Amino acid sequence: MGRCPCVIFQTGHTVYFILKAPTGSVPCQSLRRFQSGKPFSSEKLQRRWRRYESWCYRAAAGLSSAHRELSRPRRIRRGYQVYKQVCSACHSMEYLAFRNLVGVSHTEAEVKTIAEEVEVVDGPDESGEMFTRSGKLSDYFPKPYPNPEAARAANNGALPPDLSYIVNARHGGEDYVFSLLTGYCEPPAGVAVREGLYYNPYFVGQAIGMAPPIYNEVLEYDDGTPATMSQVAKDVCTFLRWAAEPEHDQRKRMGLKLLMGSAILVPLIYYMKRHRWSVLKSRKIAYKPPK
Ligand code: HEC
Repeated sequence: MGRCPCVIFQTGHTVYFILKAPTGSVPCQSLRRFQSGKPFSSEKLQRRWRRYESWCYRAAAGLSSAHRELSRPRRIRRGYQVYKQVCSACHSMEYLAFRNLVGVSHTEAEVKTIAEEVEVVDGPDESGEMFTRSGKLSDYFPKPYPNPEAARAANNGALPPDLSYIVNARHGGEDYVFSLLTGYCEPPAGVAVREGLYYNPYFVGQAIGMAPPIYNEVLEYDDGTPATMSQVAKDVCTFLRWAAEPEHDQRKRMGLKLLMGSAILVPLIYYMKRHRWSVLKSRKIAYKPPK
């Protein structure tokens, strides 16, 4: 029995069931049980809910949980580690430079060491030849494949998209990516998935060319955090959220300053305007006929 992406949780005496499988697909075991009114064991409820507990949905304020997490550089740091050790084997992030990490998740010295491990083709030099050198802070993340054709050839014809802006490029943003990464399951009865594809209810068409990239203990975190599947997914999603908008925090801070500034300036300017115009506006033009 594969993991079904539905979410069950309980508050007080009410059991909530969030159906995540696409409508029309064969109901999973949990759904059938839920519909039949049989109670779930609390252990099962807890197990189901634990998979999602570390991930809350977008808050009413319009800021996603990942946004709020941005104040926690350690999560982005772990997310980068996941990207580097897992996703970068297939996915490029060509719009992100090493210097972007400085001051966000790593110190400058750390990023320099990371960048130096990369070989970059540069040039031409004085004799017109291209040469390779070790990476610098200003270099962009290396690509796993030289061109899209090579990427397709290595992935059964499917093109792994560039992840730089992926959370902005998909409906649901990082929630979608999180669900996609954790939502792989056995195809429901009667659904056949072609060789080389994997069943994932979150993907359009439900058959994705990406093998499940993460699982428990897929990597070992440098900071010793237990690398459970949901932890890894959450970290990499936070990283991807940040990568899509590295300027996000600064933008919000600027916006707040702007609002506070205009809260003072706008009434002041309005008062000044009234003051300046008071002579003209309160002027009364009267016609006095000559005597
Ligand atoms: C073995 C290679 C491989 C690895 C490793 C890999 N992917 Fe993928 N990924 C692919 C391929 C191939 C596709 C395209 C799938 C398709 O179009 O059917 C893809 C597609 C995606 C998509 C886009 C799905 C969509 O809606 O179009 C996202 C998001 C994604 N991968 C995230 C990740 C993340 C995050 C990681 C690291 C945890 C990762 N991938 C690791 C091969 C990989």
